[in-house]
Amino acid sequence: MLLERDRDSSQPMADPAFRQDIIQGLSCSPKSTPPIWFYDRRGSELFEDITQLAEYYPTRVETAMLAAHCAEVGALTGPGRAVVEFGAGSAIKTPYLLSAINPAAYIPVDISGDFLRESSAALASRFPGLPVVPVEADFTKVVNLPHGISAMPKLGFFPGSTIGNMTAAEGVDLLRTMRASLGSGAMLLIGMDRVKDVDTLVAAYDDAAGVTGQFNMNLLVRINRELGGTIPVDAFTHRAIWNDDAARIEMHLEALRDIDFTVDNCRFSMREGETIHTENSHKYGPRDARLLLRAGGWEPVREWTAPGDMFAMILAQA
Ligand code: AVJ
Repeated sequence: MLLERDRDSSQPMADPAFRQDIIQGLSCSPKSTPPIWFYDRRGSELFEDITQLAEYYPTRVETAMLAAHCAEVGALTGPGRAVVEFGAGSAIKTPYLLSAINPAAYIPVDISGDFLRESSAALASRFPGLPVVPVEADFTKVVNLPHGISAMPKLGFFPGSTIGNMTAAEGVDLLRTMRASLGSGAMLLIGMDRVKDVDTLVAAYDDAAGVTGQFNMNLLVRINRELGGTIPVDAFTHRAIWNDDAARIEMHLEALRDIDFTVDNCRFSMREGETIHTENSHKYGPRDARLLLRAGGWEPVREWTAPGDMFAMILAQA
């Protein structure tokens, strides 16, 4: 058995939650892994590269929508709100919102502390006088917000169609959790990707330069590095497919031949053509989007749609 002390001490110790999710996910049939584990340092960089791709329209389209409509958002929210951003990451869209709504504080919430502190520092220097209080937390659980902002009305900000990673049931739970985190009187500005033609959708998740493929495959590299895995990375290929019944893009890692490997001494085998389902990215029509919000305890107040119905941004009231 491989003991902790036999491991290469230059490697960080594995996150027990990562180990648990991967071992459990690979033990299921069909195999699947939660998308949160894409975002190690390399994965976060690759995702930033994805957002710059010609085929990956969501970031570009949503950023343009925010730039165009944030004055109207500000008129509807009023000034003096504490903006709480869920899954802030590099927070590229945030300045548009903050410069338009006259906020009282900005609270980025993210599970990845390093990334969070870097982007918070950048934002704080761009908005001198605005209290910026990063919170390192898993926003799928109720977040304890800093005491200083408890009396302020909140505006939750959840851009990027991150909600698309969840099934409808998980999405409803998350929206209810956010409502509990933000309190009564809160508002929520959320981005959701629309259902559209299949070629556009598939291209966005299977780009010509292969960046999304690298992003997907990086999960295997991370498992090998952090969990002492023996996965033959070259025996896998990236797949992005549209599941019309579930209205979602699915990313998979498909085995190109029969393989055996171990992860933290657990044995796994895959047949040629078998896949690990690594991500769902659900897309919503206008009615589905409103229904999801209402089921989650949020009443839509105003909705903006990008040209060609490419993407939607919805402001809702708790
Ligand atoms: C960050 C979850 C919104 O689903 O579009 C991009 C992640 N995966 N390309 C998305 C992602 C592959 C992205 N979200």
